[in-house]
Amino acid sequence: MSPDPRKTFRLDGREIPFREGQSVFDAAMAAGVYIPHLCHNPDFEPHSSCRLCTVIVNGRPFASCTQPAVAGQDVKSDTPELNEMRRSLTEMLLVEGNHYCPACEKSGSCRLQATAYALGLQDTHFPQFFPHRDVDASHPDIILDRDRCILCGLCVRISRTVDRKNVFAMTGRGIATTIVVDSPSGLLADSRVSRDDESVKHCPVGALMMKGEAFKIPIGERPYDKALISEDSVAQFQAREAAAHG
Ligand code: SF4
Ligand code: FES
Repeated sequence: MSPDPRKTFRLDGREIPFREGQSVFDAAMAAGVYIPHLCHNPDFEPHSSCRLCTVIVNGRPFASCTQPAVAGQDVKSDTPELNEMRRSLTEMLLVEGNHYCPACEKSGSCRLQATAYALGLQDTHFPQFFPHRDVDASHPDIILDRDRCILCGLCVRISRTVDRKNVFAMTGRGIATTIVVDSPSGLLADSRVSRDDESVKHCPVGALMMKGEAFKIPIGERPYDKALISEDSVAQFQAREAAAHG
């Protein structure tokens, strides 16, 4: 179903049409307006954990990925304050893990790295935590490098709702929060995960990856080597919308 041109809300002064049931985020992206985001993948239910997509709706902050679009509402997204908040959140994600971008196999395909570029991050301001995090390379096909995990929860949700295996879960609190694997040893090799699972295909960073595939696309040819994530995300979102709703 196409957006109803009679139903619009205002986003940074621009009228955005929406379909009944669409979120502010989905309607904005379909209209070609990029809103920075990390934990939301439009192929799966939104979760609103990273808060990067926060916008101001009628004067109050909401995560746009879970905020329903309502006719006539006034939404602000591209403001100095919101972009500063997004930069700070991204900086915190970068310092609380071990993100060695120049040596990371996911460089050029990593949404955290690309979002940092799109937000114009020059440095991370805060001191690095350098936490000790376990790497699980026990599985023949899949590697889990917790150094790079941003706790977006996508693998947890997809394993539960799509693969119906509940392989991944989050445990701990605050800075000690980590991804755990459901198996007798706690290792991927002893779990029910397989290379065909959707949960291992959508990690936005280089935390869950297929072994032997990291350099199939050479550095320099990867999506965010060629386009800003803002352009790439909007183009992909609009193509997906066109395929689904015409
Ligand atoms: Fe998200 Fe990847 Fe961490 Fe899973 S492993 S929570 S998909 S960053
Ligand atoms: Fe909306 Fe993460 S993308 S809260």
